[in-house]
Amino acid sequence: MQILQLKLINFRNYKQIQFNFSPKKNIILGNNGLGKTNIVEAIYYLALTKSFRVNNDIFLINNESNYSIVEGQVKETIKNDYKIIIENKNKRVFINNNQVKKLSDYISKINIISFNPEDLKLIKDSPNIHRQLINIEISQFDNNYLKNLSIYNKILKQRNSYLKNLSFKKNYNIEYLYILTDKLIDYGINIYNLRKLYIENINIYLNIYFKKITNKDGLYLKYVSNYDNLNKDELIKKYKNLYQTDINYGKTTFGIHLDDFIFYYQTEIAKNYLSEGELKNVVIAFKLAEINIFINIKKKIPILILDDLFSEIDSGKINKIFKLLKKNLQIFITTTDINNIDNKTLQNSKIFKLKNNGIEEIIYE
Ligand SMILES: Nc1ncnc2c1ncn2[C@@H]1O[C@H](COP(=O)(O)OP(=O)(O)OP(=O)(O)O)[C@@H](O)[C@H]1O
Ligand SMILES: [Mg+2]
Repeated sequence: MQILQLKLINFRNYKQIQFNFSPKKNIILGNNGLGKTNIVEAIYYLALTKSFRVNNDIFLINNESNYSIVEGQVKETIKNDYKIIIENKNKRVFINNNQVKKLSDYISKINIISFNPEDLKLIKDSPNIHRQLINIEISQFDNNYLKNLSIYNKILKQRNSYLKNLSFKKNYNIEYLYILTDKLIDYGINIYNLRKLYIENINIYLNIYFKKITNKDGLYLKYVSNYDNLNKDELIKKYKNLYQTDINYGKTTFGIHLDDFIFYYQTEIAKNYLSEGELKNVVIAFKLAEINIFINIKKKIPILILDDLFSEIDSGKINKIFKLLKKNLQIFITTTDINNIDNKTLQNSKIFKLKNNGIEEIIYE
């Protein structure tokens, strides 16, 4: 798929602007702070209704306004218009001007694979952040995932608040806890299976790409879950054994809400062993693996965003990465220096040169 047109109103530093993108390569060129990342952030936002930089949409609204509109025309077999209006902490999403009530019915329509420096969190941060990031990735892939996850989280909340109450009461209705636990396990198993399948698919390609970029061999992503190798009966037993612990803590101490995803290089945890640049290559290899899963399993070609790829990755590796990209992908590359990009990659691209007084468009042949 390709995003052919993007209109922004009061989004970040853009009061009102329209971009007509190339279905192939788009290069967004400009000095620091001119708004390169803001453009790709808007594309990402249009697809996922979330920014990759901030958790609060307020930051996206131009600081002289109180609303913002991101609108784009996306072509797959047919062209569709997607629109998000952000206003007063709320957002409304539209497809072809019809409002879509549930975000889970909207997300996963536009498929984006994006690389930006924030993605290093996938390797470096806490399990909590790893889960958040992997959740976003899988939800694009399968919108059932998001539905299961939101029900699981609702049940988890109910269970935790019930456990908190129980720690103060002597006589309680254990039946209700059984019911909540049973439901939690059902949705937990669904999520576990979807996560497991996703990670298995990633691992088919991850090391192949890593090796092609770095000549190093032995990268894999490990899915760590306490649901591992347990069937429903065994899980029910586990939770039963933990009832007293859960009541003491006033929360659920076992379940897929504690899962982690850890990159390993050979026998070492990647973040403890690999260099900064190599870790970026790990993320790139992961993203390239994702593109493959989209194409091979979902039969969809995602849009690729490469924001700030050039810091800490040497030019030899960058060229290898560009060579690995599938020919029919629509790509967005941001850079401060056109010399970062080799001539072959520049060929047939559209360059958007951001300046203090506007944007110059150059078609490069
Ligand atoms: N809500 C907002 N309203 C107005 N301007 C904003 C808003 N949010 C961010 N900006 C401005 O946008 C600019 C940052 O844009 P962006 O991050 O896209 O820059 P960039 O071109 O990617 O720079 P770099 O090369 O450093 O990555 C900053 O100058 C910032 O002040
Ligand atoms: Mg930037």
